[in-house]
Amino acid sequence: MGQAKDVASLIDLGERVMNDSTHVFEDHDHREEAEELLALCLKREPDELDDLYEPAPRIMERYLSMVARRAGGEPLPFITGRIEFYGLDLEVRPGAFVPRPSSELTVDRAARRLRKRQNPIVVDVCTGAGPIALALGDEFPDAEVWGTDILEEGLAQGRRNAKHLGIVNVTLKKGDMYGGLPARLRGSVDIITGHVPYVPVDEIEDLPSEVKEFEPVHTLSDGAPGDGLHLMRKAVNEATEWLKPGGWLLLEVSDDTTPKVRKLVRKAGLTDVGVASDGDELSEVVEARLGPAGKSKAR
Ligand SMILES: C[S@@+](CC[C@H](N)C(=O)[O-])C[C@H]1O[C@@H](n2cnc3c(N)ncnc32)[C@H](O)[C@@H]1O
Repeated sequence: MGQAKDVASLIDLGERVMNDSTHVFEDHDHREEAEELLALCLKREPDELDDLYEPAPRIMERYLSMVARRAGGEPLPFITGRIEFYGLDLEVRPGAFVPRPSSELTVDRAARRLRKRQNPIVVDVCTGAGPIALALGDEFPDAEVWGTDILEEGLAQGRRNAKHLGIVNVTLKKGDMYGGLPARLRGSVDIITGHVPYVPVDEIEDLPSEVKEFEPVHTLSDGAPGDGLHLMRKAVNEATEWLKPGGWLLLEVSDDTTPKVRKLVRKAGLTDVGVASDGDELSEVVEARLGPAGKSKAR
């Protein structure tokens, strides 16, 4: 180990190493990530770090090995073991899709509709570790929230988080798309949310290592040859059986996928109400409604 370095230089170094990596998305704030890693090593919060403090050699070593893991593509939440999502502190482990801050837009869009409804029923398909379902369950304690996923690993993480956080109105069930839901929910769901896999299988190779090497491929893609929208079609077409009249379908997609998904919702007989974006260009939410959009169009 070289000579002692202060906190400010260690953060600069960590940021540079991560910025130079070709294994991670360029749009991450690597300075913030370096601060989070060093704070974790020092058992502090990032805003409690003192620039001039010189950590002990073993702390420096631990920090630099975490920076190396991150620069090698390991998702930050796998290194820290947690992520903050919609104000919830979620424990995260390898084996499932890593919750993304970009999915908070879906929660926002669902929340603005749920505020107007009493004892609503919410379904989050392809829920993974359940971040969207847990955030909506926490925000709306009178809601009955269901999350379904084909992979048990994410569901188990979600259930553990629900227990730690005392969220009791969210049920996470294994099932193919709507398959895990009780039949009584047919025709009575207020909002369906979905961050459904949509990356065409032949585009997986173009993703950075942090995605393609650390997240199971079926969390990203339908795995079938074609446009990547096999599961999306299923999510859209079957939504009409579960939504109540006036109920909403909110689908998180990338901007290049949006026009295709809007076409799918129109073809399924849903009202294509529009697209929400938070301006970060990471994801958009296609918004559709069963029945006429009426006065609440684009709200
Ligand atoms: C893009 S991830 C989204 C996870 C979660 N909603 C989130 O935002 O963190 C897509 C999820 O779809 C799940 N999935 C794939 N095929 C499925 C299917 N046929 N039925 C239900 N879930 C499926 C994957 O296991 C994965 O968790």
